[in-house]
Amino acid sequence: MQNLDQIALEAAAAFAATDDPDTLEQIKSRYLGKSGQITELLKGMAKLAPEEKKQAGAAINRAKVSIENALADRRDAIRRLALEARLAEESLDVTLPGRSEMRGGLHPVTRTLERIEALFRSIGFEVADGPEIEADFQNFTALNTPEDHPARSMHDTFYLLDEQGKVAEDILLRTHTSPIQVRYMQAHVAKYAHLETMPEIRIIAPGRVYRVDSDATHSPMFHQVEGLWIGEKVSFADLKGVVADFLRRFFESDDLQVRFRPSFFPFTEPSAEIDVAFMSGTLKGRWLEIAGCGMVHPNVLQHVGIDPEMYVGFAFGMGPDRLTMLRYGVNDLRLFFDGDLRFLRQFV
Ligand code: DAH
Repeated sequence: MQNLDQIALEAAAAFAATDDPDTLEQIKSRYLGKSGQITELLKGMAKLAPEEKKQAGAAINRAKVSIENALADRRDAIRRLALEARLAEESLDVTLPGRSEMRGGLHPVTRTLERIEALFRSIGFEVADGPEIEADFQNFTALNTPEDHPARSMHDTFYLLDEQGKVAEDILLRTHTSPIQVRYMQAHVAKYAHLETMPEIRIIAPGRVYRVDSDATHSPMFHQVEGLWIGEKVSFADLKGVVADFLRRFFESDDLQVRFRPSFFPFTEPSAEIDVAFMSGTLKGRWLEIAGCGMVHPNVLQHVGIDPEMYVGFAFGMGPDRLTMLRYGVNDLRLFFDGDLRFLRQFV
């Protein structure tokens, strides 16, 4: 039957014309559905004479099988096309440049602080800390700093405002790490109050400190590391030994000299500035001030409840920013706090 071949061809062409699975199923029903063309032809056979039925039945079935095959092929093809499209979309272009993670690194001053902590830990010092917003008592009074001392003036110290917006005179941004000495000694005394004699105190205390000051070698925020050793017989000779040994290990060099230059601090007596000079390199022969130090003043011990007749000790306050500048050859302190990655990356 000419008509049947025609229908099968049309169906195959219609299938081929779509790549949408839903449309394909709709086209299918035009031929094979309940009232599709092939289904109608099969229904019409009832009217035929028995001998015609056999022939017509075989022909219609052939057409039906051919349409079903074409449909199955098209379903496969559409599935393949969809898969290929997805693969193309999701494919990896291995030739694209990589998107690497940015590697973080420690700030050069942080490196110095960690180094200082490690070196002092290795000789039995503990690391202590304290608040950056400090009380007048711990920052000044307990450290034997007189009421009229210039450091207490608003030109030098950042004070805080109270709830009424007035300057609160008893709280401030700590101007040095020395109040950590006071806090640590107060806690130590309380902790060992039940003992006849208290154990030795050996601490270093790194931290941020604040002063009204800003130029190439001063920043309103900078760092200090406080040191304190209190015991029954701690001497100035111990101070010199500890500091000189620390500096040689810090700079990894025996090629340096350390000098203790008499000075004054209210909280130590006698007091000294510690200078260091390198015997080689670009800074050769220049004395550079890197710390203040001294034997803890009896008044300080009394303020924290330690008997100055029984205990003595030394303290020092170093400038780790300065140590970092010397170690890496940096000449402007502000570079450390500008947050410029081009500068900071060099230390990673
Ligand atoms: N607190 C002093 C300052 O900021 C530094 C200092 C000097 C600390 C002598 C000390 C010390 O512990 O004994 O200038």
